[in-house]
This record gives sequence, C-alpha cells and structure tokens, in this order.
Amino acid sequence: MKKRSSTAIIIGNWKTSPASLKEGLAFVKSLEKKLAAKKLAKLGYYLAVPDLFLSELASCAKYGTIGVENVSGISTGAYTGLQTVHMAKSAGAKFTLLGHSEVRARGETTEDLAKKVSQALSEKMMTVLCIGEAKRDAQGNYIAELEEELRKDVSMVNRALFENLIIAYEPVWAIGKDVAATPSECFEAVIAIRRALASLVGIDHAKKVSILYGGTVNKDNARTFIKEGGVDGLLIGRASTSVSTFAEIIDSCRRRE
Ligand code: PGA
Repeated sequence: MKKRSSTAIIIGNWKTSPASLKEGLAFVKSLEKKLAAKKLAKLGYYLAVPDLFLSELASCAKYGTIGVENVSGISTGAYTGLQTVHMAKSAGAKFTLLGHSEVRARGETTEDLAKKVSQALSEKMMTVLCIGEAKRDAQGNYIAELEEELRKDVSMVNRALFENLIIAYEPVWAIGKDVAATPSECFEAVIAIRRALASLVGIDHAKKVSILYGGTVNKDNARTFIKEGGVDGLLIGRASTSVSTFAEIIDSCRRRE
C-alpha cells in the first residue's frame, strides 16, 4: 500500500473557472513557469478542472496532475449527459473529486455518492472524497455526523481499494466564506476522521490515507493547516484561480513538517 507523501498535496478546485480553454492553458503555462523559476516544479500540484477542458489541460501540464471535479457511478448504458470513470481516465484525468458539498446540495444522494466512490476506486482512480459537517454544535455532535457520513460514503468499497482514497475535510460552513476553520478545529476533525477510518479498515490502512483541509484557504493561512491542523494537504477553491496566489501557497506548504 502507498505511503502518505512527505510533500503536501495541494489541489485546486476550479469549479466553473476558467471561462475559456485558452485561459486555462495560459494559467497552466504561467504557473509552471513560476514554479520552475522558484525550483518548485518537482513538488507538483493538482488541479480539478471542468470536464470540457480536461484533455487539453492534461496534455499541457508537465508537472501538474489534472483531474475532474465529479464523475458518475455508472460504467456504461443509456445515461444521457453522464460521463464514466473510464472516459475521464482516457481523456487524461488522474484523479476525481467526489462528494463536494456543492454537488451534494444539487441533489447527489448518499447512495449515488457511494456508487461513485466504489466505481472510481474499483477502476483505480485516485479519489478525493469531500466530507464535512454543515455546522458545529457546542456538544460535539458534528463528530458523529462526520463519522457517519464517511462510513456511508465508503460503504461499498473493499478495504484493499483504500490505497487510492484521499479524504478532504471540508466543513460546509467554511467553504466560499471570509473565515476558514481554525487549525485546531481542523485538527479535531482530522482525529475523528482517522479514528473512523481505523474502525472501518484497521489502523494500518487508516494511517496511510491522506487527509486534506478545504474551506477558505488562502496564502496567509495555508501553511498553518499543514503545520498545526494535522493535514497532509489542501483543497483550494478561489485561491487556486490566481496563478500567483496558487504558486505562493504551493511554495509556503513545501514540506509537511
Ligand atoms: P474555497 O472553496 O477555497 O473557495 O472556500 C473550497 C472548495 O470548495 O473546495
């Protein structure tokens, strides 16, 4: 089974950016030039991009790993408008996000999501599963909510397939806002997630699953999550759509220690 990486895993979630393929290609070229100039190219980076731009961005990226923001749980059949994991892989996707709260809010059910997670992992697609509580309560009930969410989302997955799973802790109350979670709030959730993973697949497998934080990450707070929040990397929305900010974040998170 893979080891957790000693380099922070920095993933941009582009959502509906950029407006055109031309801008996307210019972004990747400019980001890679900047990283190369700072001798950071080897660290790499990840970008979850709109499906329509996947193939060309994947061909353009030399140091980056390009993935998709969602994928269906079906392998083939009469499903107008859906795309399969196999299609995404053949167009160059090396990973997929799944279970993002914005997708759940549009009606993705836990059952749909569990199928997607199982389909992606069974096709050996690296899967970044997003989980997070809607709000925090003083009694700490959100911890049980998180654990339950995780358990349901991976309920169809064989433990041998966990090696391609990454969990992104994304508290819904901190996504797209002005204020992020604090590193200690993040740390608490990471412990709960690791404990839930251990009870699902055993401690040895659980220790090897990388956990990321997402929700209003910016260049000023990024490193504190890595240093004090107990995470192996970050999932970044808005701040991943500016070349200079994204490059600064990659630079500031160079090592996990
Ligand atoms: P944000 O988005 O960084 O803009 O808060 C994070 C996400 O949606 O993954």
